Amino acid sequence: MARNIHSSPGNVPALRVLFVAFTLIPLRSVTASGQQQHNYFEALQKSILFFEGQRSGHLPPDQRVRWRRDSGLHDGATAGVDLIGGYYDAGDNVKFGFPMAFTTTMLSWSIIDFGRNMGPELRNAVRAVKWATDYLLKVTAVPGVVYVQVGDPYSDHNCWERPEDMDTLRTAFKIDAHHPGSDVAGETAAALAAASIVFRSRDPEYSRLLLNRAVKVFEFADKYRGAYSNSLYHAVCPFYCAVNGYQDELLWGAAWLHKASRRREYREYIYKNEVVLHAGDSINEFGWDNKHAGINVLISKEVLMGKAGYFESFKQNADGFICSLLPGVSHPQVQYSPGGLIFKAGGSNMQHVTSLSFLLLVYSNYLSHTNKIVPCGQSPASPALLKHLAKRQVDYILGDNPLRMSYMVGYGAHYPRRIHHRASSLPSIQAHPAHIGCKAGSRYFLSPNPNPNLLVGAVVGGPNVTDAFPDSRPYFQESEPTTYINAPLVGLLAFFSAHP
Ligand SMILES: *[C@@H]1O[C@H](CO)[C@@H](O)[C@H](O)[C@H]1NC(C)=O
Repeated sequence: MARNIHSSPGNVPALRVLFVAFTLIPLRSVTASGQQQHNYFEALQKSILFFEGQRSGHLPPDQRVRWRRDSGLHDGATAGVDLIGGYYDAGDNVKFGFPMAFTTTMLSWSIIDFGRNMGPELRNAVRAVKWATDYLLKVTAVPGVVYVQVGDPYSDHNCWERPEDMDTLRTAFKIDAHHPGSDVAGETAAALAAASIVFRSRDPEYSRLLLNRAVKVFEFADKYRGAYSNSLYHAVCPFYCAVNGYQDELLWGAAWLHKASRRREYREYIYKNEVVLHAGDSINEFGWDNKHAGINVLISKEVLMGKAGYFESFKQNADGFICSLLPGVSHPQVQYSPGGLIFKAGGSNMQHVTSLSFLLLVYSNYLSHTNKIVPCGQSPASPALLKHLAKRQVDYILGDNPLRMSYMVGYGAHYPRRIHHRASSLPSIQAHPAHIGCKAGSRYFLSPNPNPNLLVGAVVGGPNVTDAFPDSRPYFQESEPTTYINAPLVGLLAFFSAHP
């Protein structure tokens, strides 16, 4: 199932929205009555558990998702390297390095900002990061090379097969000096740097390893500039084609290295390259391909703390971006469904919902710590408003929506039963030990029955712009979960479980 989940990149100047006058629509219009109080902590637990269902490689004895088994145990063998481990990105069995790295960065950011709100779940969240970073250390083990994908997406998507049964091509794709990929390498550096902060006091040696590797990978990304979609077009497009260019990942990598290392060279890199690398451009989304909004929000924290006046323009970009998300603003890049869900064209909408809500929440926190608001032309937005908007999105996901449907599997009374996910929809190895071949799986794909294995915590692509949801495997844009939908949600749920 090909998944071109990229929405078309826009070119709306971010600051334009500052001058647009708008009125806020009533924020609680749709679900003001009859809302239930959500159990955010339960949802947090489940959102983290989901990552265990996405694991590739040798599963450890304390694996909690018991219907999964070891898989991908020869990954890397065709290239003579060990690339066992990591995560499947979504409902297929390919290990796509670009979204995996972004997922890791966002899980780490969730822990850095909201780990103190996770209680006993913090341990599981950190383990979810380590499952990714152990793999990212493998793919970056050889200097000047990054393995960015294991699995041939055409071969994989042509089959409906359990990961444990995989007999599709497990080609290992790499970038190097002659086949550059500053986008995926920049994101990998960001992930390693962000994770080094997560492990700084928990495991200083591992943290240093991550940070040192991040430095090397960033050097490589910056020195050999290019888009991996050019170098590896047929392997990565149209699946995770980097339409948005690699400039944002270079700034993003530098921003995380700056935060993790406090070395002056990264501050200078950001300062020097802000204009060259277009820090304020196409700041209309935030996801595995486009980091602009994230860069500006992340760096604004320092501006707000008064530690980096020279980064003031990042704060202005972040303000403009945040204003563009407010309901009532007529903004071509962000719509709201009648039921109140953020909606952006391009499919797998929930990735936008969770990542944009995450930015609303972290920005709100940075503002409240410093008693600031976002100007937004005539209608300044308070930190409380931004939190309220983020919470409204989370509540929609958990069931406050016209269908009264939770979009997280295993949470609430009604949730998606036919998610587009091979391992969840095929019988488990325990239930059906015999091999199920590539095409033999089709009858499970086409079956009207619910999936036999609950992928608890998986959040799917979600309803369309009219709040309708088919709950049907072939509608992959609506029914497929992805790791980068959940990663920012972990932070959101942690915060709201502590501040309901
Ligand atoms: C949304 O989904 C419903 C049900 O599947 C469908 O009838 C409707 O046409 C869809 N709307 C849009 C705008 O895609």
